[in-house]
Amino acid sequence: MIVLHELDTFRGFLDEARAGGKNIGFHPTMGALHGGHSANVRRVAAECDVAAVSIYVNPLQFGPEEDFASYPRDLDGDLARAEEAGADVVFVPREMFGQEPLTTVRVGHLDQMLEGARRPGHFQGVATIVTKLLSLAGPCFVYFGEKDYQQLLIVRRLVSDLSLPAVVVGCPTVREPDGLALSSRNSYLEGPERKAAPVLYWSLLAGKRAIEEQGVGDAGAVRAAMVEVANAGPLFVLDYAAVADPCSLEEVKVVDREVRLLVAGWIGRTRLIDNVKATPGGD
Ligand code: PAJ
Repeated sequence: MIVLHELDTFRGFLDEARAGGKNIGFHPTMGALHGGHSANVRRVAAECDVAAVSIYVNPLQFGPEEDFASYPRDLDGDLARAEEAGADVVFVPREMFGQEPLTTVRVGHLDQMLEGARRPGHFQGVATIVTKLLSLAGPCFVYFGEKDYQQLLIVRRLVSDLSLPAVVVGCPTVREPDGLALSSRNSYLEGPERKAAPVLYWSLLAGKRAIEEQGVGDAGAVRAAMVEVANAGPLFVLDYAAVADPCSLEEVKVVDREVRLLVAGWIGRTRLIDNVKATPGGD
């Protein structure tokens, strides 16, 4: 596995690999790699000739009151994990922008709802850096987790609208045995907080059960089932529970086809999000 720090050498390395007939799989990350990232990288390595990973804690996607400074950083651990999962090249940019960037990429109303409404500028920061990373990587298969479902939709739309030369691949959410979705921010959770955290998943399962097993078609009732479970546990402060169209993320009124259930909230100072698919009658 090789580690590259300069934009040009990363671009050149992948250009050369493509010139040699190889296809490229790319998994962008902010580091603090966990088992979810590893599963994604393993998949990239299994499906593509060259598995590329980027590690960059992107300041553009953090709000002024958010955790950019304290975001977990562990480059040695990350490199070991990436190599173990089969990465061929890891891009750790020394400097992403030579000067303060003046360019911002915005993905219309999709970046204003749900997480976007609570974290102003967040998805612009994500869309801008992903556009830059894809510009550096060139034609590739690019892998994003369903864990950040709104981000996945935004990236799909961005790639489609701008005809970026990438195929976006969605990866299922990897969870702890108790259901908590793996996340770099889980390391902020202390004893009782960690114990309380699976409540997001329980809330999602309550909604999924209502739709798939109890045949509930009224989205308001599904949402109420999610809210009830979310509010029943200790420490968790619910921000939103949504029953949404899986493509537009608009709230639905009637659940008569596949929907996406999404929850977000706080445990102490840690913001957690999660989501699942639900389909009337089950899969
Ligand atoms: P980060 O949070 O490091 O996540 C990198 C990728 O891993 C994302 O596509 C995310 O959805 C995926 N991921 C996170 N948790 C996962 C889990 N439990 N199971 C499966 N996949 C998971 O998302 C970002 O970084 C940044 O916004 C980024 C896209 C790199 C732009 O800065």
